[in-house]
Amino acid sequence: MMRPSSSQRIYARLIGSGSFLPGNPVSNDDLVARGIETSHEWIFGRTGIRYRHFAAAEETSSRMAKIAADRALAMAGFEAAELDLIIVATSTPDYVFPSVACLLQGALGNKKAAAFDVQAVCSGFIHALAIAEKFIASGSHRRALVVGAEVFSRILDWQDRATCVLFGDGAGAVVLEAAETPGVLATALHADGSQAGILSVPGQVREGRIWGDPFLRMEGQSVFKNAVRVLAAVAEECCQAAGISCQAVDWLIPHQANIRIIDATSKKMGLPPEKVVVTVERHGNTSAASVPLALDEAIRDGRIQKGQRVLIEGVGGGFTWGAALFEF
Ligand code: ACO
Repeated sequence: MMRPSSSQRIYARLIGSGSFLPGNPVSNDDLVARGIETSHEWIFGRTGIRYRHFAAAEETSSRMAKIAADRALAMAGFEAAELDLIIVATSTPDYVFPSVACLLQGALGNKKAAAFDVQAVCSGFIHALAIAEKFIASGSHRRALVVGAEVFSRILDWQDRATCVLFGDGAGAVVLEAAETPGVLATALHADGSQAGILSVPGQVREGRIWGDPFLRMEGQSVFKNAVRVLAAVAEECCQAAGISCQAVDWLIPHQANIRIIDATSKKMGLPPEKVVVTVERHGNTSAASVPLALDEAIRDGRIQKGQRVLIEGVGGGFTWGAALFEF
């Protein structure tokens, strides 16, 4: 166990990433062909989404998480057995319990790590990463796997065209390791439970059946306004905590929900579009998986270089939001 001395900070360093998208891309026109009363022009014009991926019946959050995790571990260069912390961010777990993290741990063959899920909807990965960073910084844990995995297609109402065209499935993972050099520099997390009703799946499992509504419901315009308001503010808060200006960030990776939210946020932060990683066009909104999917893409294609500062941020149901700034 590495214990911090008063002069030495323990950083959580990101040393591996991986991701997985199920099946083939499904275009907006494919949705029209499936009978949804919509158009490519409406979806692309309002959201920037062209494609999303949908999991097959046997593809669960834990199975997709396993593929993303294997890829992240391969990049990190160590075995799953060496992990001492596994956190999965998901709102679409395989079961009520056990957690996706425990199912993933079993599939990875790790028998000692702490493993649990975090549920903060689309900002879940930011919450999970911030928790892992605190565990590592405290000296109690050294090697953490942090995953965002979702099958939102399972909770979409295909009769509700205002929501079913927005979401997709996938998983992304990162490996964090204790280090003397940065590392995660700062994190910021928030929630406002008074806004719980604007984005929810209000059904309950009770007495052997589902009571209430098991589908995702969203007040789109309220979500849009809240998202733009909080994302720029939490980015500023996180950068301030690290002692840098938002303009000093090399890459912004925001939650991939809507290109108009992403553009408004980066504009408020004074960041040019070239510094923003955007995957919403090809992935749709994959909730907690969206940030690690985009992060993995930008690491693997060489955009994110060693030593650069990356700001990731998310916003989602709850209402929850947060940001994390790290040096790669
Ligand atoms: N195709 C065609 N027409 C549609 C569709 C569709 N898929 N969906 C809705 N419409 C129609 C509506 O029926 C309405 O028609 P009307 O004017 O005849 O009544 C019209 O389009 C406008 O509907 P609005 O809901 O007012 O559309 P709006 O401009 O608000 O755009 C949208 C909707 C895209 C959902 C927008 O509100 C938005 O992006 N909100 C943020 C959503 C988001 O990012 N959510 C995720 C963040 S948190 C998380 O990730 C879980």
